[in-house]
Amino acid sequence: MIRKATRNDARAIFDTRVAAILAQWQGFYSAEILDAWTSGDLTEQFALWVESSFHVAVDGDKVLGSASIDLHSGQIDGIFVLPDLMSKGIGRQLLTSLENMAVAAGLDQLVLNSTLNAAPFYRKCGYEGNAVAVYSSPRGFNLDCVPMTKVLRRSAVDAQPCGQADLAHEAAQDRLP
Ligand SMILES: CC(C)(COP(=O)(O)OP(=O)(O)OC[C@H]1O[C@@H](n2cnc3c(N)ncnc32)[C@H](O)[C@@H]1OP(=O)(O)O)[C@@H](O)C(=O)NCCC(=O)NCCS
Repeated sequence: MIRKATRNDARAIFDTRVAAILAQWQGFYSAEILDAWTSGDLTEQFALWVESSFHVAVDGDKVLGSASIDLHSGQIDGIFVLPDLMSKGIGRQLLTSLENMAVAAGLDQLVLNSTLNAAPFYRKCGYEGNAVAVYSSPRGFNLDCVPMTKVLRRSAVDAQPCGQADLAHEAAQDRLP
């Protein structure tokens, strides 16, 4: 089942995030990057982000995975699945659920910055994008990522004046899962 996250889910989401990164980022990013992204503890800022934007896949009380969406910008972030449960369709279910919310909210497209390990997953789910870009973290380090887009309603996006889709894409550069 997928439901809106509450503040009480912040700890489980934070721990799932750390475990998922440690399980999949090795081989794609340096030990320094891994350490930077997994060190530290749950912050008030993270809890507020959970409350405002996250959904969780759950089995009873247990959080299995997480995903967030900004229904104003169409940006997806924070997709993490417990390592033991990866490749069982949970990530796709979360993404589909966010896409349904986005369509209901009238969004034309979704954008995200994929980490290098996750780009094949997003492609399987219909996201497009191949070029590697550099994400600069507010904490002062750079991370390679792949900006990706999925058009939800092609006719609406085709009707945009030239260049607007690109601008939306650039705006996506300011956050990474
Ligand atoms: C990436 C992640 C969210 C995918 O979730 P998941 O539940 O494991 O993925 P799913 O089982 O829903 O996979 C959906 C499809 O993508 C494929 N897929 C998933 N991860 C993949 C990968 N790393 N490489 C290639 N294909 C992948 C699956 O095989 C499946 O394909 P199918 O439709 O042919 O069966 C999850 O593995 C994860 O938490 N990774 C670590 C954290 C992370 O990097 N998050 C993304 C940050 S941008």
